[in-house]
Amino acid sequence: MDALRIKGGVPLSGTIDVSGSKNASLPIMAAALLASGESQLDGTPDLVDIRTLAKVLAHMGVGVSFEEGSLKLDATKIDKPEAPYELVRTMRASILVLGPLVARYGHARVSLPGGCAIGARPIDQHLKGLKKLGVEITLEHGYVEAKADGLVGSDFIFDMPTVGGTEHLMLAASLAQGTTVLRNAAREPEITDLADVLNKMGAQVDGAGTEKITIVGSSSLKPYTHRVIPDRIEYGTFLVAGAMMGQDLTIRGGLPDHQTALIDKLVQTGTEIAADNQSTEITLNRPSHITPVNIKTAPYPGFPTDMQAQMMTLLCGAHGTSTVSETIFENRFMHVAELGRLGANIRVDGGNATINGVRQLSGTTVMATDLRASASLILAGLVADGETIIRRIYHLDRGYEHIEDKLRAVGANITRFSE
Ligand code: EPZ
Repeated sequence: MDALRIKGGVPLSGTIDVSGSKNASLPIMAAALLASGESQLDGTPDLVDIRTLAKVLAHMGVGVSFEEGSLKLDATKIDKPEAPYELVRTMRASILVLGPLVARYGHARVSLPGGCAIGARPIDQHLKGLKKLGVEITLEHGYVEAKADGLVGSDFIFDMPTVGGTEHLMLAASLAQGTTVLRNAAREPEITDLADVLNKMGAQVDGAGTEKITIVGSSSLKPYTHRVIPDRIEYGTFLVAGAMMGQDLTIRGGLPDHQTALIDKLVQTGTEIAADNQSTEITLNRPSHITPVNIKTAPYPGFPTDMQAQMMTLLCGAHGTSTVSETIFENRFMHVAELGRLGANIRVDGGNATINGVRQLSGTTVMATDLRASASLILAGLVADGETIIRRIYHLDRGYEHIEDKLRAVGANITRFSE
């Protein structure tokens, strides 16, 4: 199994590039199922999650080619509209194929994704919404069976803003007859990117980025060619790296507008941030001392749950006490125990963590527990005194493209090895 070795304390300088968005690519890949012909997604990051969904699609008969960030998906012929447990269990977003399949073929069978480390993560909203569009859903032997004789547009109110749920219903509604209105919809940039794709395909999607999305479906959609938006969580992770170790560290290719809540908090910590309004470059210098801040995760445009672990790592070195409240997932503090092994002083009470800043983290061996927790441990290793070994980094490869190469290129002393 792969692990990372980091020798901490080295400032980061130079330029680091942001890859295409994983979480925008996944639903856009599922959108390829809506049309006969070859769709093309450019800028797709080469990540395990992307390859997993590509395998799910290939398993059904979709033609897949992936070269230099250009992912081509030909869904002209689907042999079996089915996603098996072995593939779905490793990545929850595979559930997004259910709606497009039943909309186009009238039936689909997709394994229930089950829980995952960060929480139970139910899909009740996805299924309720599909039923509202006229899909008959049964749950049997751990599979969702979906049947429909043509989908019909409807009005659906989500119980909570769900990113995957909103994307799933947008996908299905694009092939439904008539108009669908989604209320209390999620507003993340990935949703707006998906709307752009569905509009290119021939659906009429309005209101993406607001809590009310209207979709006028079409009886037949065409394949798309699209360049995916930059990954705002990879971007945010590098911004936090700049706040912790940056010495004129420039991050290129991310969209500051997609990380406003994070950037506001970084400014409050005292981080020097200079944005070049003519381009997508932002340059960071770490502050001489970090001012504590309080964070509460919330749906977009609030502070992203996917940045909570990384931000907490920064706050471990603040001069004073910070608080972090996690409101989206019930079990997203698994990095706390590992940060504690590195010398952090964090107390957790339910969804709230209190972080008392310490003068210095000190390197040791830690274990990565999920994707963003892995990133937080890398950041911790970059500031810690001495050597940090991070084990079980396979989570990291699900969501960060060549992260150790990117960090090494800006000065970090980080290497991957097999144990
Ligand atoms: C997406 O997950 C992201 N994944 C997650 O990123 C991210 O953490 C999350 O949104 C929140 O921003 C992808 O885009 C592939 P949700 P998703 O549905 O869509 C509850 C990463 O690290 N809920 O918005 O699964 C749910 O339990 C990953 O890249 C229901 O109760 O998240 C949670 O509490 C991790 N019923 C809340 O809603 C449902 O049917 C928000 O979840 C659906 C969701």
